[in-house]
Amino acid sequence: MPRIHALPDQLISQIAAGEVVERPASVLKELVENSLDAGATRVDVQLEEGGVRLIRVADDGGGIEAADLPLALARHATSKIASLDDLERVASFGFRGEALASIASVARLALTSRASGAPHAWRIRGEATPPEPAALATGTVAEVADLYFNTPARRKFLRTAATEAAHCLEALRRIALARPDVAFSLSHDGRERLRLATADRLRRLRDVLGAELADGARSLEVAAGDLRLAGWVALPAQAAVARDSQYLFVNGRFVRDRVLAHAVREAYADVLHGSRSPAYVLFLELDPAGVDVNVHPAKTEVRFRESRSIHQFVFHAVERALAAPLATPPSPSFPGVRPSDAGTANPRQPVTAGGFRHWPPPGDPVLARQGSLAVREPDAAAYLAFAQSARPAAASPGGQVPQGDGDPRGAPLGYALGQVHGIYVLAQNAQGLVLVDMHAAHERILYERLKAAVGSGPLAVQPLLIPALLGASDLEMATAEAETGTLAALGIEVGAAGPAQLAVRAVPAAVAAGDVAALVRALLAELREHPATRVLEGRRDALLATMACHGAVRARRNLSIPEMNALLRDMEQTLRADQCNHGRPTWVQLSLEDLDRLFLRGR
Ligand SMILES: Nc1ncnc2c1ncn2[C@@H]1O[C@H](COP(=O)(O)OP(=O)(O)OP(=O)(O)O)[C@@H](O)[C@H]1O
Ligand SMILES: [Mg+2]
Repeated sequence: MPRIHALPDQLISQIAAGEVVERPASVLKELVENSLDAGATRVDVQLEEGGVRLIRVADDGGGIEAADLPLALARHATSKIASLDDLERVASFGFRGEALASIASVARLALTSRASGAPHAWRIRGEATPPEPAALATGTVAEVADLYFNTPARRKFLRTAATEAAHCLEALRRIALARPDVAFSLSHDGRERLRLATADRLRRLRDVLGAELADGARSLEVAAGDLRLAGWVALPAQAAVARDSQYLFVNGRFVRDRVLAHAVREAYADVLHGSRSPAYVLFLELDPAGVDVNVHPAKTEVRFRESRSIHQFVFHAVERALAAPLATPPSPSFPGVRPSDAGTANPRQPVTAGGFRHWPPPGDPVLARQGSLAVREPDAAAYLAFAQSARPAAASPGGQVPQGDGDPRGAPLGYALGQVHGIYVLAQNAQGLVLVDMHAAHERILYERLKAAVGSGPLAVQPLLIPALLGASDLEMATAEAETGTLAALGIEVGAAGPAQLAVRAVPAAVAAGDVAALVRALLAELREHPATRVLEGRRDALLATMACHGAVRARRNLSIPEMNALLRDMEQTLRADQCNHGRPTWVQLSLEDLDRLFLRGR
């Protein structure tokens, strides 16, 4: 075995480069972060051959003194921290004093820089050669040519120029999302690929991720103590637009963090089913001392000092933003709707309360409105049964809320015009036409009601005048007996009515008008698979969802206009009402412009 010996500097840098300079995009990230640390207000990037032949980053930042240029390329030399104390509260992107040295060890690096106030610029290529005078109006230009020219093994891992350029573009997008105050551009082989003017955050979001995502997503801005979370969360119905746009920033730094990603995923759990992934852009700000960024050389990982409370904070903030009732519709605007109209909060105006900005549901006009509901058709009973039960009993007999005087501006979802094939409700609102999937919407409303009701004590039970009978297998009989307690907690009273028959004697009022036998059968099937005794908490929502599905008004039921309006009003008041329990939309808006387009009608 050879003796132990110290490694040459160049090799040390190349080893470090293995972690920091994974591909051209990582070089771009390091260079642009340096520009931002230097206070740049514009950063222009040029790439050639996917960044392998050339990455050139020009900024208008503070520049580097001529005497400091060799140090900029030296390992472990930085202007950003001086002590452990600085490290523990670092607010700049860089702090390791290693990026340029690493890059220089695997590529040809040249820096040209003009410190503010200097009579001219200086240029340096390599630590060993002294700087020479150069021409540059302001700031710094970093040029990295022939990446991995001296490390062919690394070069083999590179993909096509187009792929590497795409990664570079994505790296710049990430940075740009967090820094709308800086203008950016990127060109590849002479073709401009990105140009971003300085903007506000929403504008930058649109410019980077597209208007469709930006305009449809819910914005949030929540503060608690020294924690602040701002950004956008896309609604599940937008998943198709969103692709895999998942951006998390901690103090302006793009990170991949399990704690945060988990908190967001949990927050989506109730609205996004199956394998679809949520889309979001979230900026978490906290005291730099509360987060360790010195975890990995590429600095895309962080460690939180209080990771539990941060998880909770992010979870609740995102959950609340996603759950906000329809009074804050996903469609862009309600021209002509004033905040005072029909007691509806201005849809785009977050309300500040106790440091938290969110969208509280405006009062509960539903309570006051009950008296004005009229039963016209017998088979509307399903909807009415739930509309009149499952609500707190404290209905105020007095004030009636208008059912709709025909003025479509009065409510976000407008007023019903009729039904299509007993499946869709048609309504008119300020923008145009609203189409509602009746069953899906009602299912969500029931589900949210059941959850809220279970959360505040045992479910209100409605005895059935005539018990519902269902034929049952031995297994179903046994499950019904073993799970009597679970079923009772869900507001369901069921017992044997014969050797192979069950009688359902009571169900929660909310679902009494649904298909009670099917509901109980579905619950028994679930309880057989997952006995509730130990796992009720975790399974509870799934059981309630099953109940909501069978309790909801079925397709092909006729509803009267007042019943449809009651459904629309309930949707406006219900958490997460704009997606069904399976993450599909419950309603869509066709604006007058959309309709005009359908008819090729010019405006
Ligand atoms: N575009 C720039 N404008 C002004 N100064 C720069 C620029 N790029 C680099 N520097 C200077 O060169 C130094 C070294 O840069 P380098 O990226 O190697 O290290 P760092 O940014 O300090 O830390 P890290 O390795 O974490 O990025 C910086 O500390 C900074 O003073
Ligand atoms: Mg740096």
